[in-house]
Amino acid sequence: MDNQQLLDLLGAMTLEAKVAQLIQLAAPFYEGADKGGQITGPLEAMGITEETVASSGSILGYAGAAGAIAVQKAHLQKNPHGIPLLFMADIVHGFKTIFPVPLAIGCSWDTELAEKSAEIAAREAAVSGVHVTFAPMVDLVRDPRWGRVMESTGEDPYLNSLFARAFVHGFQGKDLTKETERVAACVKHFAAYGASEAGRDYNTVDLSERQLREYYLPAYQAALEEGCEMVMTSFNTVDGIPASANEKLMRSLLREEWGFEGVLISDWGAVKELIPHGAAEDEREAAYRAIRAGVDIEMMTACYVHELPELVRSRRVDEGLIDEAVLRILQLKNKLGLFDNPYRGASPKRETEIVFSPEHRAAAYELAAKSTVLLKNEGVLPLNPDARVVLIGPFAQSGDLLGPWSWSGSTEDAVKLNDALTERLRGSLNIAEGCGIEEGTEEQLREALEAAASADVIVLALGEASEMSGEAGCRTDIRLPGIQLELTARIAEMGKPTAAVLFNGRPLDLHGVYDQVGAVVEAWFPGSEGGAAVADILIGAVNPSARLTMSFPYSVGQVPVYYNPFNTGRPKGAPDAQVRYVSQYLDAPNEPLLPFGFGLSYTTFDYDDLKLSSKKMTTDSPIVISVNVTNTGDRTGTETVQLYVRDIAGDVVRPVRELKSFVKLELAPGERGTAVFTLNEEQLRYHHSDLSFRSDPGQFEVFVGRSSRDTLNDFFRLV
Ligand code: IFM
Repeated sequence: MDNQQLLDLLGAMTLEAKVAQLIQLAAPFYEGADKGGQITGPLEAMGITEETVASSGSILGYAGAAGAIAVQKAHLQKNPHGIPLLFMADIVHGFKTIFPVPLAIGCSWDTELAEKSAEIAAREAAVSGVHVTFAPMVDLVRDPRWGRVMESTGEDPYLNSLFARAFVHGFQGKDLTKETERVAACVKHFAAYGASEAGRDYNTVDLSERQLREYYLPAYQAALEEGCEMVMTSFNTVDGIPASANEKLMRSLLREEWGFEGVLISDWGAVKELIPHGAAEDEREAAYRAIRAGVDIEMMTACYVHELPELVRSRRVDEGLIDEAVLRILQLKNKLGLFDNPYRGASPKRETEIVFSPEHRAAAYELAAKSTVLLKNEGVLPLNPDARVVLIGPFAQSGDLLGPWSWSGSTEDAVKLNDALTERLRGSLNIAEGCGIEEGTEEQLREALEAAASADVIVLALGEASEMSGEAGCRTDIRLPGIQLELTARIAEMGKPTAAVLFNGRPLDLHGVYDQVGAVVEAWFPGSEGGAAVADILIGAVNPSARLTMSFPYSVGQVPVYYNPFNTGRPKGAPDAQVRYVSQYLDAPNEPLLPFGFGLSYTTFDYDDLKLSSKKMTTDSPIVISVNVTNTGDRTGTETVQLYVRDIAGDVVRPVRELKSFVKLELAPGERGTAVFTLNEEQLRYHHSDLSFRSDPGQFEVFVGRSSRDTLNDFFRLV
């Protein structure tokens, strides 16, 4: 259809039919879909009629080609204007082929593979009838108590922006109308959901506008610059106003300043939640505030349906606002080609051909291998394939490797660690559970200790169950559950070479693990091929190359702790300085246990000869920064060389370090490579006290190295 035809369609619709386009309902409301689908929020009586369902605009959380075709067909028969439904779902890190959780993907520092993962997820979802994914989630995260950190790529605005672009491009491709095996992306959660106070889900966010613009907004903006079709509001307040009613955020910033013309959807129930938030007295006020803020689709509550017609009739709301919202939805349906083919990519045949195909699984394997971070290794790894190995712990034989937001994936299909190790080891492999995730018996412990007694090396497979992170999966104690720490302590007492492999969705407080065992591998939730990838890392068939994108705190009391804070007027200086009246804890270091950018390899890299092409930068003359990196070990390995900058003095205080670029070097044993970066004035701009975005002349420190903590440094001036 052309735009005039869409306008004609809009003109032919009753007010009620238009408002019904603005509601999104979960699968149970639709004929044929009532037994399937994913429920990702509270289901409550909605008080809507069959007519509303027949005229509704979109369905949430339903997939499966044959089913989706049937649901669409039944809907079209009932919809008075023959308007197809949009099928939206959370395809966050894979559809059936599950990739590592996004926080792990971040640790790959590999945006090409990230894009490929999104492309595969889109393909599998699209042939299964999905049109829009509620992804990418690009919330910047600093607080590992928050369960949803696993959905983000981490704590850095620059890196998050790169991943945001990659994911959007992977989901959407270049042309959504022609490429029916892509899906429209919906970036979320706008805005600053990752800054929920105290790491508690749905909680208040209160940030200065400069913090918001400097750290939290860039990744959403990057996704939109990449053409992301939709935006989802966040559950939280921003400066006292819940996002779904926040006109400053949604109208002034998103629509006017950034020029976003796509569809804005609330999160599940977020419009009605304006009432408990204390931003609306009743459903009418909630509908009024949300539509004025620019929320087009209300997900899973019915304030719009109940109240907008009357608000329009009483002239409190201009019907033009409704028309704008409906037109945007019709335009998206049109872009996706639904008026020509309401089933779009849904194809039972393609579904059988490509979903969970060997090719897709190979990509999931590759990303899992590149996302697994080696956190410690005192000569325990890689395992000698001829050794007698014992694998102990709740994740030894577990398929719970997919992580939250993998609703179409099957834990049955996940490659388990015990199976993968059995295939790879030539020596013996004994397996014992040792304990469950949160509970265990004396019997389990005894069996594990017995099995360990006859082993040369012990591998502990520990972690958090997937429901311990993700939405509403927040914790105040982010150590491993006590029973697993007890198991670790008892094993450590044996004094044998021991490696711990961790499966979890957040940076943990590693007390009781890091200090107890000789090697620690952070596998995150590695996805469908997780066991295979981790086993290959353990035996050294793959040399680990991932680097953390979220700091691991020394203890939960430090949280939030991140690599790019401001200095204080009383900085501690050296971490071991013994002084008072400086900014420090008496009982813990200021620094996290493991910083952003950190990760080990089975080889070692030396850095030398940091060079700046000039000590002066001008607006027109960037400087070139180079450093030599030598592989000093005996295996080929990949090093992620990171470039950070510090603005020594600014109009407002500047972070102690900011990531500006990175380069990956794959080096053979003894090989020396050079990492070369070009740094220009634009990269030094920041939001001033008046919110202007510009750089200041003055001195800058540049750092190049293997992590945000371990760098060589030099200085230059911007003149
Ligand atoms: O997309 C999600 C969102 O991230 C959290 N609440 C539910 C939505 C739909 O499932």
